[in-house]
Amino acid sequence: MSEKITHPAPADIAQSHDHVLIVDFGSQVTQLIARRVREAGVYCEVHPFNRVDAAVLAAFKPRAIILSGGPSSVTDEGAPRADAAVFEAGVPVLGICYGQMCLVAQLGGEAKGVGDREFGRATLTINKPSPLLEGLAPVGGSETVWMSHGDRVTALPPGFEPIASSDGAPYAVLADEARRFYGVMFHPEVVHTPNGARIIQNFVRHIAGCSGDWTMGAYRAEAIAAIRAQVGESGKVICGLSGGVDSAVTAVLIHEAIGERLTCVFVDHGMMRKGEAEEVVGLFRDHYNIPLIHADESALFLGALEGVSDPEVKRKTIGRLFVEVFEQKAKGIGGAGFLAQGTLYPDVIESVSFDGGPSVTIKSHHNVGGLPERMNMALVEPLRALFKDEVRALGRELGLPESFVGRHPFPGPGLAIRCPGEITGEKLDTLRAADAIYLDEIRKAGLYDQIWQAFAVLLPVKTVGVMGDGRTYEHVCALRAVNSVDGMTADYYPFTHEFLGRTASRIVNEVPGINRVVYDVTAKPPGTIEWE
Ligand code: XMP
Repeated sequence: MSEKITHPAPADIAQSHDHVLIVDFGSQVTQLIARRVREAGVYCEVHPFNRVDAAVLAAFKPRAIILSGGPSSVTDEGAPRADAAVFEAGVPVLGICYGQMCLVAQLGGEAKGVGDREFGRATLTINKPSPLLEGLAPVGGSETVWMSHGDRVTALPPGFEPIASSDGAPYAVLADEARRFYGVMFHPEVVHTPNGARIIQNFVRHIAGCSGDWTMGAYRAEAIAAIRAQVGESGKVICGLSGGVDSAVTAVLIHEAIGERLTCVFVDHGMMRKGEAEEVVGLFRDHYNIPLIHADESALFLGALEGVSDPEVKRKTIGRLFVEVFEQKAKGIGGAGFLAQGTLYPDVIESVSFDGGPSVTIKSHHNVGGLPERMNMALVEPLRALFKDEVRALGRELGLPESFVGRHPFPGPGLAIRCPGEITGEKLDTLRAADAIYLDEIRKAGLYDQIWQAFAVLLPVKTVGVMGDGRTYEHVCALRAVNSVDGMTADYYPFTHEFLGRTASRIVNEVPGINRVVYDVTAKPPGTIEWE
C-alpha cells in the first residue's frame, strides 16, 4: 500500500525534526489542523486516511497522530476508518469530530447519529482535569468551542473517561490518559474555538513531547543544504519571478544556496500593477545582485489579446505566451538543468483528494504550468513543505522587504482578469491608476495586513455622471476586498462608509475615464474573489 502514496513526502527535508501525522477524513478544515500544529513549532503532514498503514507509519515515524473530521457518518456502510496500526503505534492519538467517532467506534465504544445536528458555537463545561486542556478554564469552568457534527458518542470505549461536555454532546472531550488517546467533538483548529490552538499545542508539545524546533530559522539552513545537494557543484537553476511572495522567497533561498548559478526570469506581460515591474527588477537585480532577465513583452501580450473577451481564452493566451517567452529566455541562458518553482504544501495536498484519488480542483501553479515537461528540466521546489504563513516567515528570515513578504496574492494573468471583456492598453492604465489609489487608501488606513486581497476592477460598463457643469459618460470601477484563510472561501471586507466614500471620491476625481465607483459585497461562494 505504501507505494501508492501520492502526497509526496516533504518529510525528507525535515528528517531531524519530530513528525506529527494528520490522517485526513476529508474535512474542509484539515489544513487548519496542520497549520495549528506547525504554529506550535512541530512538523506535520496530511495523508489521506486510506494511504496510512503500518508501513507508512514505520517510515514516517510520527510522535503523534491526529485524526481529522470528515463529511461521513460513522454508521454509514463503508464509512472511512483509520488503519488499526494507528492505535498500535504506541504514540498519542487525537481524534477530532469524525476522527473522534472513528476512535470510539474502533476501540470498542459506540457512536451514532442522534437525529439533531449540532452546528456552530457551543459551551464546553470542563468536568475533569486533563493535560489536553492545560491552561484552559479550570474544572467547573467553561470554554467556547465550535461544533459541526451529526453523530455523537453514546458509549465510551474501555479505558476512556469523560473530560468535558456540552449541551449536545455529553462526551465532548474524552480521554484514555494511560494510552494517551483523546477525542474532541468540536473543532479546535478553527478560530471560532478561541483556545483551540492551545489544545493542539498541549497535544503535540506536552502530551506527545515534540520539541517545537520547527522554525523557519532552522528550515532555512536545511533547505539550503538540500538545494545544494540536489543541484550539485555546477548545476544551474532558472527561476521565474512573478512579483509574488512565493517566487521571491524561492529565488532568494536558492540564491543563498548556489549564488550566481541561479538566473531569474521576469516575464513582464504588461498587466502588472502600478510600479510592480520596477519594484521586482529593483529588488532582485539591484539589491540582491541576482542575475535577472527582464523580458518586457507587454506589446506581444497585448497584441495577442486584441479582440479577446472570453476569460478562459484570455487566461490560455497569456499562459501559452508566458511559456513560450520563458522557454526562449531560458534557452538563452544555456545549460540550466533545473527549474525552480514556488509550489506550496497546500498545492501538494490539494492535488490529491482525501480518499487518495485525484482532487477535483487541481491547481495550476502561477504561470509556469507546462514548463517542466516542455523543457525537460528537474524541478527545485524548496517551499513544497510550507504553508503560506511559513513562507512569509522564511522571507523575513531571508531579509526580504515587508513590501514583498506581506503582499496580497496576485493572479498570474494579472490585471487581464480584472478588466472584464476586451483589454486595451488605455483600459489597463485607467485600472492601474484606480487600483493604486485604492491600495494607497487601504495602507493609509492601516488595513493592508488585515485584508486577504484587495483590488479594483474596471467594468466594461459606462454610466452618466456630472462633473463641474458638464455631463460625463465614463467607466464604472468596482472595488473588491475580502477576508479569507486560503482563498477557497471568502467574505467581503467591511470597510466603513467613510473609507469607501473617501476612496471613491479620490478615484473619480483623480482618474480620467472613471466616473462611478461601486463596492462588491459578495461572499465566495457563491461569488469568486476575482471577477473573471
Ligand atoms: P477566485 O477568483 O477563484 O480566486 O475566487 C481564488 C484565488 O486565486 C487567485 N486566482 C488566480 N491565480 N492564476 C493565478 O495564479 C489565475 O488564473 C487565477 N485566478 C484566480 C485569486 O487572485 C485568488 O487569490
